[in-house]
Amino acid sequence: MIKRKNILKIAIDSPAAAGAGTLAKSISKHYNLFYLDTGKIYRYIAFLSLEYPEKFNKKFIKSEVNNLNIKDLSDKRLLSDRISNKASKISKLNYIRKAVHSLQINLAYNPPRKYNGSCLDGRDITYKIVPDADFKFYITANLKTRALRRYKELKKINKNILYGDILKSIKKRDKSDLNRKNSPLKKTKDSLLINTTNLTKRACFLKIKKIIDKKLNI
Ligand code: C5P
Repeated sequence: MIKRKNILKIAIDSPAAAGAGTLAKSISKHYNLFYLDTGKIYRYIAFLSLEYPEKFNKKFIKSEVNNLNIKDLSDKRLLSDRISNKASKISKLNYIRKAVHSLQINLAYNPPRKYNGSCLDGRDITYKIVPDADFKFYITANLKTRALRRYKELKKINKNILYGDILKSIKKRDKSDLNRKNSPLKKTKDSLLINTTNLTKRACFLKIKKIIDKKLNI
């Protein structure tokens, strides 16, 4: 595997809808880092499993992941609650995790040349995908705040969505992501905890920027 030298690597883990994606995007933009929302890859595979159930096997997944176009991950259909729940189920499977791990590692250590480094967020980034990241963060927020944020986001796409349903599905996903045997969500000792419950997006960004700038001597 090619590893670019002297690049900045940021690893973020977080439960669903904690604000990690928004934060990772703004941090990536600020430091010119390649941003990868790893949850989107599991969502994409979940989408394929629902669209092509007859083809869904190890070989199919491997070839889809190898030929994945990062642009396909911006498809709005991947945001639905149905896909979230399916992603949480299929991401427990060892062969699926194996298929996406090398893609994630490659993008983290060998991001496109125009970037100064990479920033990945997910569930196992700080300890499995980029264990030697320069900065590790565990972003969280309380359950009701996370559910409300996700509800507001999804309401824009689907008017019929109910807050209670979103709360239930985030709770279920938390339970599964935290307790699964394979790559569970956890906060590593060397990750900095950021609780976004009472922070605005801007305040979160500034908090993280301060930590990074201090270590980088900017
Ligand atoms: O982050 P997001 O909510 O889009 O992730 C969807 C699901 O994909 C999560 O609930 C989790 O089960 C799975 N996932 C994972 N490992 C990652 C990222 C996401 O298992 N690195």
